[in-house]
Amino acid sequence: MAKVNVKVCLGTTCFVMGSSNLQELMSIVPHKYGKEVHVEGSPCLGMCSSEYEFSKAPYVKVNNEFIKEATVEKVLAAIDKELK
Ligand code: FES
Repeated sequence: MAKVNVKVCLGTTCFVMGSSNLQELMSIVPHKYGKEVHVEGSPCLGMCSSEYEFSKAPYVKVNNEFIKEATVEKVLAAIDKELK
């Protein structure tokens, strides 16, 4: 079983705010980490509307941690941290 689960939000808000750029994670992550990390797209993770001030889409969830204003670099750093 994968040690780290990554969910890339593909909901409307996150998609408009740039999660389409994060779709390259779908190819980078399996290539870099193999079976250690499972990555998938997800419908709205519920973060874009839960708290206005926390509306910093796009969001990615790495295990139980939410990454706001996610970029490929931030997500890879979070995965590395989880694998330590
Ligand atoms: S659309 Fe991504 S958290 Fe709602």
